[in-house]
Amino acid sequence: MQAELPVELADEIRRRVFGEPGFMRITQVVRRGGEVFRVSLRPVEIRGEKKYQGEMFDEGRTKVKNFDLDAAKNGLEEMIAQNGVRELHLITASGDLHVRVTKKGKVLQSRSGKLARQLDEAPAHDRAKNVPLNAFHSATLLRVLGISDADGKIKASMRGKYDQVNAFLRVIDETLPDDPVTRAARRRGGDSGEAADSPPEVNIVDCGCGRAYLTLAALMYLTDVRNFTVRVCGIDRRHDVITDARRMAADLDLGERAVFIEGDIDTAELPFEPDLVVSLHACDTATDAAIARAVEWKSHYLLCVSCCQHELHRAIKTDSPMQGVLRHGILRERLADLLTDTFRAQLLRIMGYRVQVMEFVSRDATARNILLRAESTVKKGLGAAVSEYLELRDFWQVKPWLETRLGEPLAKLLDICEHQ
Ligand SMILES: C[S@@+](CC[C@H](N)C(=O)[O-])C[C@H]1O[C@@H](n2cnc3c(N)ncnc32)[C@H](O)[C@@H]1O
Repeated sequence: MQAELPVELADEIRRRVFGEPGFMRITQVVRRGGEVFRVSLRPVEIRGEKKYQGEMFDEGRTKVKNFDLDAAKNGLEEMIAQNGVRELHLITASGDLHVRVTKKGKVLQSRSGKLARQLDEAPAHDRAKNVPLNAFHSATLLRVLGISDADGKIKASMRGKYDQVNAFLRVIDETLPDDPVTRAARRRGGDSGEAADSPPEVNIVDCGCGRAYLTLAALMYLTDVRNFTVRVCGIDRRHDVITDARRMAADLDLGERAVFIEGDIDTAELPFEPDLVVSLHACDTATDAAIARAVEWKSHYLLCVSCCQHELHRAIKTDSPMQGVLRHGILRERLADLLTDTFRAQLLRIMGYRVQVMEFVSRDATARNILLRAESTVKKGLGAAVSEYLELRDFWQVKPWLETRLGEPLAKLLDICEHQ
């Protein structure tokens, strides 16, 4: 069986990958006994330097490694030298080349002259929808996260997570302007006239990160699409999810850019000062912990979507004028959810944040779809914010856990108003 590529074909591949402009990606797929081995190479720019990103899919895992030119050339030679049945797909600006080596050793070639696509692996129906995960080359990320399968198709079981991450990324995108308020920008502002022409450095903490779908997607999106220099830190108290998150970050070759802490949101010690704190569906009072820590860390931006909320559900008194509502479990639960988020928004306002409350995915997808978007822009302890909060709290005769958690700094602000 002839399994080697003809010399002219191998030379054409070398030339189109390294010898002329417009190379976008080369992928080789070998299927053996139901197993899929996939290797690909594409040019990337990392901190202004041209590199080549290799992606290897083997035994159900995708791994990424960045190479310099010489190592990339070696990688291409290994691809070309591969034996046996396989498929090779080269995409360059001048067109696509498909090579298929059959069981009988025939080498079949086909070429298309159309301009190669930017988003070569996104399914067509998704490409049409202008979603953040289609705005950059996310195929590798999605495979590593296990959201897509080896062929790059979104798994049916992961469609909900895919939509949630997209929706959250859209909000992150809208929240961060091109010159976001960050620790690094503020430090630079303090320096003697240093030009602020380097990409914004944005530090993100994900509280209750779980398997880091959002954490890693935010890192990749803001790096690739917004051209920010991003570091992320995910916190979760579950050992298994942090182990998975660390493995995925290693598979994506993210190095120091992605750190994961196994521990409690309330006590985690961060490797950096955050500019943006995010939290998606952190259970019960873990969302309050995320909010409290964002305030204490002086994070300029905060985005959180809460999950199940039990605290007020238990605390609301049934002898209130709302007992007609509270008698019914489902209404009581929804009311408690709404009140919890209302109190959180009010407390954030008191702590100096401008707050928006918005729906982040459709209610059909999940009932846990209320997102608080907060930006630290207003004065702390504004009288109107404090008195609104106190009136609401006194009406319901409850003390939200977040008030207790925010402790002395909040108590002082409430005190000023209560004694006026
Ligand atoms: C429903 S999962 C959501 C995970 C992830 N944010 C996502 O949307 O895929 C909630 C996560 O929060 C974590 N969590 C809850 N309370 C926590 C706490 N106090 N400290 C750290 N992690 C916490 C849980 O272990 C869990 O992994």
